[in-house]
Amino acid sequence: MTFLSRTLILVSVTVRNSFQISSSPKAGCIRAPPYWISFQKAPVLFQCRARVFSTNTYSEMPEKKPFERLPKDVVPVNYAIRLQPYLEKFTFDGVEDISIQIKKPVKSIILNCADIHVKSVKYDGGKQAFGEDIKITYLKEDETVSFTFPDELQTGDGTLKLTFSGELNDKMKGFYRSKYTSPDGKERYGAVTQFEATDARRAFPCWDEPSVKATFDVTLVVPKDKVALSNMPEKSVAAHTDPSWKVVQYEHSPTMSTYLVAFVVGEYDFVEAKDSDGVQVRVYTPAGKSEQGKFALEVAVKTLPFYKDYFNIAYPLPKIDLIAIADFAAGAMENWGLVTYRETAVLVDPVNSSSAARQYVALVVGHELAHQWFGNLVTMEWWTHLWLNEGFASWIEYLCVDNCFPEYDIWTQFASSDFTRALELDALKNSHPIEVPVGHPSEIDEIFDAISYSKGASVIRMLHDYIGDKDFKKGMNAYLSKHKYTNTFTEDLWEALGDASGKPVQRIMSTWTKQMGFPVLTVTQKVEGQKRILTIKQKKFCADGSAQGTESLWEVPIGICTASSPQKSVHRFVLNEKEATVTIDNIKPNDWIKINTGAVGFYRTQYSTDMLEALIPGIKDQTLPPRDRLGLQNDMFALARAGTVPLVQVLRLAEAFQNETNYTVWNDLSMNLGTPLLLSQYTDYYDAAKAFICKLFGPIGKKLGWDAKDGEPHLDAMLRSLVIGRLGKAGHKATVEEAKRRFAAHCDGSSTLPADLRNPVYGTVLKQGGEEEFGQMLKLLKTADLHEEKVRILRSLGTVQQESLIQKTLDFAMSDEVRSQDTVFVIAGVTGSKLGREMAWKFVKDNWKSLHERYRGGFLLARLVKTTTENFVSEERAKDIEEFFGEHEAPSAERTIQQSLENISLNRNQLKRDGPAMKEFFSAYHS
Ligand code: BES
Ligand code: ZN
Repeated sequence: MTFLSRTLILVSVTVRNSFQISSSPKAGCIRAPPYWISFQKAPVLFQCRARVFSTNTYSEMPEKKPFERLPKDVVPVNYAIRLQPYLEKFTFDGVEDISIQIKKPVKSIILNCADIHVKSVKYDGGKQAFGEDIKITYLKEDETVSFTFPDELQTGDGTLKLTFSGELNDKMKGFYRSKYTSPDGKERYGAVTQFEATDARRAFPCWDEPSVKATFDVTLVVPKDKVALSNMPEKSVAAHTDPSWKVVQYEHSPTMSTYLVAFVVGEYDFVEAKDSDGVQVRVYTPAGKSEQGKFALEVAVKTLPFYKDYFNIAYPLPKIDLIAIADFAAGAMENWGLVTYRETAVLVDPVNSSSAARQYVALVVGHELAHQWFGNLVTMEWWTHLWLNEGFASWIEYLCVDNCFPEYDIWTQFASSDFTRALELDALKNSHPIEVPVGHPSEIDEIFDAISYSKGASVIRMLHDYIGDKDFKKGMNAYLSKHKYTNTFTEDLWEALGDASGKPVQRIMSTWTKQMGFPVLTVTQKVEGQKRILTIKQKKFCADGSAQGTESLWEVPIGICTASSPQKSVHRFVLNEKEATVTIDNIKPNDWIKINTGAVGFYRTQYSTDMLEALIPGIKDQTLPPRDRLGLQNDMFALARAGTVPLVQVLRLAEAFQNETNYTVWNDLSMNLGTPLLLSQYTDYYDAAKAFICKLFGPIGKKLGWDAKDGEPHLDAMLRSLVIGRLGKAGHKATVEEAKRRFAAHCDGSSTLPADLRNPVYGTVLKQGGEEEFGQMLKLLKTADLHEEKVRILRSLGTVQQESLIQKTLDFAMSDEVRSQDTVFVIAGVTGSKLGREMAWKFVKDNWKSLHERYRGGFLLARLVKTTTENFVSEERAKDIEEFFGEHEAPSAERTIQQSLENISLNRNQLKRDGPAMKEFFSAYHS
């Protein structure tokens, strides 16, 4: 989308005041928090942005020029960069020789440059040379600098020689400073980089577009006692004229995109190993904590050979470092050979880390290492194809973790954390197609969302299932081999996979990546003796149940399983019309039929009443496999949200899960129940709704107990934590009492809480407690060393119910005691209660200027907007939000705002529609 249409969106927001809205049903008090905080897999940057919904203000708009990519008449071949960061005054100096190729005679050269002061520029083209006579012009809006020469530059090779300086900023992008505590207890700063998507230009002037690849020769001049790392191994360390500095040179890099370049300077320890192919793997941790790097090292050492085998291509670099960065905006970043992580995404403490945290680390390591091939070796041509990178990595990380840790049953977790999450977002009017035109940096930031990640991963999973692993692998190898060191479009992947499988991959997949949304299949059956004749119809699924997008049509690979073949489809076909009839032979009269075996197809299913009723015994006796149970109830909640089925019917279905044993099914169900719970906060039957939760989770809570059995499965530990948390927050008496008792013992040091119990216990005692518990938590926070533990506490703080404590939490979020990377999640923590939600939104409005300045756009701001707005239920709030953002810019959150408004409308409609019946249903549970 161009700059022009972006402006248009902003204005139309101010003009309209009756825009329709919708929801994250899972949102609300139980909604899983962001990925790196909750350790639930769910890409980091779940945020979205506004669509054009009105063009009538077009003529009133001031003309803004559309975004343009850099001219390619001149391209870089090699960057020789020397950077010297000053860790006390927060600046850096740079010297850069760019070897360029001039393809057409030009009078000026334009490249990207932001927040950098170019001190000098020279051009040496052999026969032509310029110096002081070169004119430097910055275009701030475009983030470019142009060098204009007295004469046209002739075609051929030349060198552009620059010196410049910049700031080591505190915005977690570009070349920035990160605060850490040195082993001597002093606060110090390191310098690190985060360049994706468009911030390499803040560290050195460059052609900062993914398709303009070049090689890099990096030199870092750093204080002598510091660790200094870059993408490639160290080539030499030399003395500096000033003996307190050293000059570290790195090996020549392969051809690569600018967004993958990285530098880190600071104090670190590391653990290291070689993988089975001799690649050197190191995990860098804060000094004195190398023990905490061991788990990630173990994962990395297993993962590299896994990918090498899967792609049939060796890891392209001689080394790989994984490093924990104290201040980090995203979860992790795949810089080639030097992957940077939030501390929570890579460090595991043998005692203080939860099972969920370990699993999260395994997934993130799996994700970033996959990018080393898919993304780094072969890169998307432009950000429109970002999903190729993120969707693919978000799929294969599960394949990798499934291989390394089969006990995680990670594919079932995929169904909950990526598949259903994507379905939820993509049903909104303000979703977007996977492939989306983007230009300006704030538009690019916005597409790091659940569509690119989770829908991307889900459609790849569907395709993998459709063509089979063997052909998929073959196609992957062909794709990576053909395009290595270059760039691709989405079509290139389809072509390789189509050739490998002989199936119409391009035809099928373009219906999923170029169209927004997905279908709901309505299924009815006719029973004829041992036969069932199914009629399956597709139409676009809209979150609010409206009939929009009737012209949309998808090519839907469908698998159907039955009671006698629950795991393996008895029938598979591709539905490429509006309607089809399918006959299932040899089926017993009462046997269930389930569409979408294993929940691999990216669609929802709406069964006729008789087919649905036949499935319920399969839930109760668990003969319907976990992913199918999960998918079924998730579809039903979405249909209720859309007003297609009564919510109470779905709540009755939830009762069928009383005997459920699977962690992921419980987790998904519990997130879905977040909506009725959220809605009931605005009624007089909230207590009754909580009593329902206590009744539903009671038996499994009892069965699991409080104490881990020796060597119990990973998923039992996760389930216990989930169930105790739900019961505790719902006010289950015995759970609250036990949580208080254990918390007291934890605080007085007589019995430390195991890591897996801390989250549910902290949440419970804060929600059911007051000033005293709040004070104890702050004390725990002060003594906590592991970042994971700090985040656990920080996120829990907001569950307090008292106004003064909620306010304290909000103020604390912005204090120096909370890192900017975590502020959003502290604020998010208070949004679970009705009062907290009001206060958080007011807080965001009151502090907008400083929050905006703190994040300068970016996805954390979008995340903040989402979490503080989407769970309201009144029109009044929707108007307030619209008005506020009519007057205040939130460049990377435009679509997010529209999605929140949709969610509010969905909430409001659902409460109006289902409220009375819900009241009656819940009342039966109130003792
Ligand atoms: N390439 C991204 C990091 C990134 C995100 C850069 C947003 C710029 C903007 C990285 O590969 C990534 O996806 N990280 C995820 C973790 C992953 C396991 C989903 C993250 O940051 O949460
Ligand atoms: Zn990624």
